[in-house]
Amino acid sequence: MSSIWHNVIDTDEARQALEAAKASEDQPADQIDVDSMVITQHYDRYSDDDHEVWSILFKRRMEQLEKDASNVFLDGLRVINLKEDGVPDLREVNANLARMTGWQSRGVPGYLPAKSFFAFLAKRQFPTTITVRPKNSMDYLPEPDIIHDVFGHVPLHADPVFADFLQTYGQAALHTNDPYHTERLARLFWFTVEFGLIREDGRLKLYGSGLISSDGEGRHALQSDEVERRPFEMERVCDTSFEIDHYQPILYVLDSFEQLRDAMNSYAEKLLSEPAGTAKR
Ligand SMILES: [Fe+2]
Repeated sequence: MSSIWHNVIDTDEARQALEAAKASEDQPADQIDVDSMVITQHYDRYSDDDHEVWSILFKRRMEQLEKDASNVFLDGLRVINLKEDGVPDLREVNANLARMTGWQSRGVPGYLPAKSFFAFLAKRQFPTTITVRPKNSMDYLPEPDIIHDVFGHVPLHADPVFADFLQTYGQAALHTNDPYHTERLARLFWFTVEFGLIREDGRLKLYGSGLISSDGEGRHALQSDEVERRPFEMERVCDTSFEIDHYQPILYVLDSFEQLRDAMNSYAEKLLSEPAGTAKR
């Protein structure tokens, strides 16, 4: 994994965190220790290039987002004080989030096994990539970096309704051992957290991080005739499979984040009322 060699990451700490993440795959859900997978963001080690990449992409995306992003996203961006000047310091982001919803954004050394990822969410913590994509692949990076994770995801965590939804999602996903439900929950995440649209003031707006953090995806989602934009309906979303390697042909549109939270609460109630893995279908 290339990201653990980034200059802001302490290599030994990252190695230990990766080992802990790997070991967590075999642990019971309630024994997963998320702290063991966290790494320090050595903020003073970001290079001038890192700050410049953040700054260029921030400015470029805000041109569209000022008019096309959900108000909830834009409010969150201001509350957590993300700025175009440079890479955000998670200590500042977290001080602001703590005040709003109690969510925290915590550095991790790359992809985590699914259960560990859910264990973070269940505790109102977001596992966050802290590296910055290289300047020579500014427009496309297959794996998440701090621009996708913090710019794309974290502003919504300042919203109390979305904050509750995401925690409930984590609790439900952590609880179930049934591959049927795990797959449905992965689809829900994809069509909301990653690629969700919402209707606000009679217009379609972006809120999914994949649309927020990517110029191409963001414009395609709103403008292309090839996208089928369906009203959000929980069962239908969970029945829809997705493909990851091209622009999304199907997107789901929320009426409000309350709609998402309420649908998640009902689903979670069903899953959590049964012993792990035995929820009725
Ligand atoms: Fe993401």
